[in-house]
Amino acid sequence: MFLTELKIESVRNLQAVSLASLQKVNVFYGSNGSGKTSVLEAVHLLGMARSFRDVRVKTVISHGQHDCTVFGKIRQRPDVSLVPVGVQRSRDGDVSIRAGQNSVHSVAELVEYLPLQVICADSFSLLGGAPGVRRKFLDWGVFHVELGFYDEWQKFRRCLKQRNKLIRSGNVAAAELSVWTRDLAHSGVAITKKRSDYYEKLAEAFRCTMTLLSPELDGLELRLIAGWDRTRTYLEVLEASTSSDLERGYTQAGPQRADLRILERGRVASEVLSRGQQKLVVCGLKIAQGRVMSEVRGVPCVYLVDDLPSELDVEHSRRVCRLLEELQAQVFLTCIDREQIASVWPERSMLKTFHVEQGAVTPDNDCDD
Ligand SMILES: Nc1ncnc2c1ncn2[C@@H]1O[C@H](COP(=O)(O)OP(=O)(O)O)[C@@H](O)[C@H]1O
Ligand SMILES: [Mg+2]
Repeated sequence: MFLTELKIESVRNLQAVSLASLQKVNVFYGSNGSGKTSVLEAVHLLGMARSFRDVRVKTVISHGQHDCTVFGKIRQRPDVSLVPVGVQRSRDGDVSIRAGQNSVHSVAELVEYLPLQVICADSFSLLGGAPGVRRKFLDWGVFHVELGFYDEWQKFRRCLKQRNKLIRSGNVAAAELSVWTRDLAHSGVAITKKRSDYYEKLAEAFRCTMTLLSPELDGLELRLIAGWDRTRTYLEVLEASTSSDLERGYTQAGPQRADLRILERGRVASEVLSRGQQKLVVCGLKIAQGRVMSEVRGVPCVYLVDDLPSELDVEHSRRVCRLLEELQAQVFLTCIDREQIASVWPERSMLKTFHVEQGAVTPDNDCDD
């Protein structure tokens, strides 16, 4: 995936930004509050129709404007032509997405055009946050790598909703409940199979990545938690917990409770690692996902890396950059001073640098680089 051109209108302090010369590695540098993270947010809007900083679009749209628009040209593979993609979001909640000549009706359809990985301050929640954050991370990979996951996942959500509705109705016919229980068990097992197939690939890629990134952290381990007691089948667990589900008013066990535990010598990584080490683990996880995606799909995802140098020493920053470079992925990075990236990227000539100042983004002349 490669974004060649980007136009941004009314995203935070970026009123009208047009970048026609994007390269494989793009560095946005400038002082605090100049608009660097907003550029990454705009790319994220294009890829996922929302920001990575805030789910509320109102905060992203420039003050005083009714809507924001991001337009880009995307090359999905070297042998295919560019697809123009546009996303517009308004304060009323309207979303308009176009790709090529067509309207796009779901985010699931949109994300195929520009699969993104984000490394930013919020990424620490991957280690210390609720299981839902890690489930989302895991499912991003399952969605992009394991065929048929999205349909199966939707089926599971529908069954779970129906079963919970019935449980809460207060008037449960045993026969009807057992139909939903069977369907739920069936699709729960199917999505768990896809999750564990993906997990195997991810765990191996993570292990290889961390060896290169931080060999001193040699006790790291990823563990997939399915969401129910695996010594029994999901159907058995659901049947055994039916009366307690009825008491509580919802289905307790299942893939909706899955987690991807990140452990260091058996302890929760967020509780024992330093902030810098946690950032390395976050980078390792995100790079591992990119590696699996490249291996299976043959195309890398695009990386948005906000403030790479923070928390990392020079040697570890250099290793992160080397791994990103080896992935052959397109990368958008931000930093305060461009030297912070230029001095750690493997090949300085690969960098396209942009100065961001009060919402204006200006490419440096190549001879300055
Ligand atoms: N909705 C908005 N409308 C206009 N400006 C905004 C909005 N939200 C934030 N800002 C401003 O946008 C500027 C750029 O923010 P940001 O991209 O986070 O800066 P940087 O990453 O360069 O430090 C900040 O000065 C911030 O106050
Ligand atoms: Mg910022």
